[in-house]
Amino acid sequence: MRDRFTMLGLESSCDDTAAAIVRREQRTGRILSSVVAGQTDLHAAFGGVVPEIAARAHVEKIDLCVEEALAKAGVGLDDIDGIAVTAGPGLIGGVLAGVMCARGLAAATGLPLIGVNHLAGHALTPRLTDGLAFPYLMLLVSGGHCQFLIVEGPDRFRRLGGTIDDAPGEAFDKTAKLLGLPQPGGPSVEAAARDGDPTRFAFPRPLLDRPGCDMSFSGLKTALLRARDEVIAKKCGLTEADRADLCAGFQAAVADVLAEKSRRALDAYTALAPKLPAFAVAGGVAANARIRYCLAKVAAAAGAGFVAPPLALCTDNAAMIAWAGIERLEAGRIDAADLVARPRWPLDMGQAPLIGSGKKGAKA
Ligand code: KG4
Ligand code: ZN
Repeated sequence: MRDRFTMLGLESSCDDTAAAIVRREQRTGRILSSVVAGQTDLHAAFGGVVPEIAARAHVEKIDLCVEEALAKAGVGLDDIDGIAVTAGPGLIGGVLAGVMCARGLAAATGLPLIGVNHLAGHALTPRLTDGLAFPYLMLLVSGGHCQFLIVEGPDRFRRLGGTIDDAPGEAFDKTAKLLGLPQPGGPSVEAAARDGDPTRFAFPRPLLDRPGCDMSFSGLKTALLRARDEVIAKKCGLTEADRADLCAGFQAAVADVLAEKSRRALDAYTALAPKLPAFAVAGGVAANARIRYCLAKVAAAAGAGFVAPPLALCTDNAAMIAWAGIERLEAGRIDAADLVARPRWPLDMGQAPLIGSGKKGAKA
């Protein structure tokens, strides 16, 4: 095996089928290719991800994604040192599609097979992009997850807190649905909010009155529904300006909650006196410019560096899985040929699971 690992990564835990080739370059990784086949159109009519439809589409697309990733990177399976695949948590049919594909490839080539936790993929992304040193603080915030983690090693995560109900991405998606905006909701709510007045509607900032880093977003959704219905009752409809104000108010509430809870998580993290304190964010919601701005401010006030990956690495992708696979392979963590798919797989096994389960699959 070479000292500069080149890894094939596969991702299929939700509604994106993805394959990527990543090579280690000193402290960071070089993405030779990253292919993502989304399924938004397939699920559009149902207002959410339909697990059976997702699983079938993954089975149909995953081989093609692998071929395309190899071709775009200009490498063959002979140039690869290992096969990393998301083995959970997620929608089990999709995870199975990826795991079976990876198992087949590993059996055919004799290459090491590495099962990766999808959340670890997100949480290790700042090492792929910026070579961040352990330990760093991570806010993982997506459609199915929201948690603060101290990342101490490739498979050492300490959870400081997380959502006790919905994930913020889920709340963005629901908000879009309630306002008749397209899915996925995050980008469309963010776009609509650009022209809105964030102060017109007084949305709650849930759980700020309680100590700690746990969060709650389901009440915000209900508050938005009520505010929308009040406007509709008064005006017999919603104008563009009403929509923009509702979106801006909702987004500001999510950003405020994430910022205040990040401040507390940073307090707990910096108390450990890390040499180079750093706060990183990952997951689909990390693509939101307003949220990124608020989190960067909180990091600066705490004297910590701030890392937010490029947008394509915030949402689901296989480059992060390939990178997590490199880190595991370097630590000698190779899986057996009968690697199993896991619907649930908490990163911090020492803690009780968080309550609730998002539409995008089981929360860990
Ligand atoms: O990480 P991801 O691709 O999948 C999960 O693992 O959940 O995140 C998708 C989520 C969706 O809920 C989507 O609405 C949200 O991330 N999202 C955003 C933005 N872009 C995507 N939320 C807020 N603002 C955005 N710009
Ligand atoms: Zn994800």
